[in-house]
Amino acid sequence: MLTTMLPLTTLSLALLSSTTGVLASAKPPIKVPVTPAHRRSSLLTPRNGEGFIRAPIRAAPGTPQTKLRRRQEDEGLNNQNLGTTYTIDIEIGTPPQTVTLILDTGSPDLWVNPTCETSGQEEYCQSFAQFDYTKSKTIEDTGAADILGYGKGNVTIEYVTDDVTIGSAKVKSQILGIGFESHDIPLGILGLSPSVNPDSQPYPYLLDSMTSQGIISSRAFSLDLRSIDNPSGAIIFGGVDLGKFSGSLAKLPMLDPSDTPSGADRYWIVLSGVGMTYPDGQVEESEEIAVPVFLDSGGTLSRLPATIFQAIGDSFPGSQYDTESGFYIVDCAVADESGSVDFVFGSKKIRVPYGDFIWEVQSGVCVVGVLPTDEEPVFGDSFLRAAYVVYDQDNRNLHLAQAANCGEQIVEIGSGANAVPSSTGKCKDSGPTGTDGGGGLDVTATRAPTKTAAGGGPQVTNSDFGPGPAGTRVSTSGIGLPTGTGGGSGGGSGGGNDDNDSAASGLDVGVTVAVALAGLNMLAVWLL
Ligand SMILES: *[C@@H]1O[C@H](CO)[C@@H](O)[C@H](O)[C@H]1NC(C)=O
Ligand SMILES: *[C@@H]1O[C@H](CO)[C@@H](O)[C@H](O)[C@H]1NC(C)=O
Repeated sequence: MLTTMLPLTTLSLALLSSTTGVLASAKPPIKVPVTPAHRRSSLLTPRNGEGFIRAPIRAAPGTPQTKLRRRQEDEGLNNQNLGTTYTIDIEIGTPPQTVTLILDTGSPDLWVNPTCETSGQEEYCQSFAQFDYTKSKTIEDTGAADILGYGKGNVTIEYVTDDVTIGSAKVKSQILGIGFESHDIPLGILGLSPSVNPDSQPYPYLLDSMTSQGIISSRAFSLDLRSIDNPSGAIIFGGVDLGKFSGSLAKLPMLDPSDTPSGADRYWIVLSGVGMTYPDGQVEESEEIAVPVFLDSGGTLSRLPATIFQAIGDSFPGSQYDTESGFYIVDCAVADESGSVDFVFGSKKIRVPYGDFIWEVQSGVCVVGVLPTDEEPVFGDSFLRAAYVVYDQDNRNLHLAQAANCGEQIVEIGSGANAVPSSTGKCKDSGPTGTDGGGGLDVTATRAPTKTAAGGGPQVTNSDFGPGPAGTRVSTSGIGLPTGTGGGSGGGSGGGNDDNDSAASGLDVGVTVAVALAGLNMLAVWLL
């Protein structure tokens, strides 16, 4: 796949760079004045909060959240390579329609209406409402289309603009995708990463619009996924909740894309050490390392270089490497023990309690929530449940703290270099207190797993869980929104490639946006 597409990439990058000027100035018109700051209410929890938006997120019912070890149900779990999915409800269109989307820090685009038949999770997909774009008075077609590729799955979308409401904040004329045909993705996606191509951004993403429309002061949000026991977290655009972490919020620079394995601009930081705190309080820690990893809320598991994967797996109490599935299997009861897997980022150590790092892939079968990778190391939900993270795109920093929960005290993120307050969380540190066990965790040695077994492991294989980061993007000419009722899953075949898509869809082309997006109307592939 990679090799066959390389010639195209070379070609299209040249094409893309010639249009960078057009794309860079692509901003949708703001047709309505933004609400003055003093009149904004703070969404779901009306308080004195101004300049930030708080929205609840949750582990979607019916996903493997039901497989997390605290829950007993195991209906529909067979043969589903599902991961936990953290979702957010937003409203699109006029009158507003609620859609449930996967919250994904590993990709930048917002799109709706997956094809349930080919989602691999048909019933689950169908349990959510689709966006019926024929019913929105504010939607405008752009005539531009794209195929987005993810770590797992892909989608063909047509870009439209419409108003997007999160809580009580309304983003006007946001560019978003209407899905025509998607594979292996059960819900639409709300992406919050920077443009993965560091050299160009095809259009303003949601976070850009929120900022340019004055809803928040800088392109920053904080994300609290919460633990398995308490799967409802929150995202705060433009704010930090001091009641959701303990200790300091450590500032870590986002890596320059050129210093990362793929060259893609993501939320990359440097992992500088790995450790274990055992149930008996003994602590082991590795030598200092420098491994780029990025944070991906759309992925279930974490993927780390094989040597680190083995070091963690081998030192997990009672673990056994399953040669068939590629996972380390553990007794589910270990999740109740008080140890943690520890990750060090400079001066900051995030302890992930065993219970948050263990994943029950099938009833009674638990695995350690990490897999090996030779490509892009990533921390998915198995790490993010234990961390409170502020993503500051404007200043290119991530801020990390140990997640906790002791109420709510939201402070606004202003603008400028020190917009994210260097605060200390209000919560008490409740993690295990370890003592140095004298041992070092060797995360550099390449060796065979010490304890192996074949069979008896999970039926899932070492494949992707959750959409993961967007990897490819193929822009095409507009394909036209399907006519008819819209909203139906399946969405039709897209109606060919004629040049009269807006007429076919019965929608007006948003002229400004169509011009701004003209750069997309050529074969452009970018591959990461
Ligand atoms: C999307 O994914 C499906 C299933 O893996 C695959 O058959 C198809 O070729 C992909 N489409 C594109 C455009 O990559
Ligand atoms: C597109 O549709 C409009 C309205 O139906 C029509 O007037 C026009 O000729 C069509 N253009 C093309 C290129 O088919």
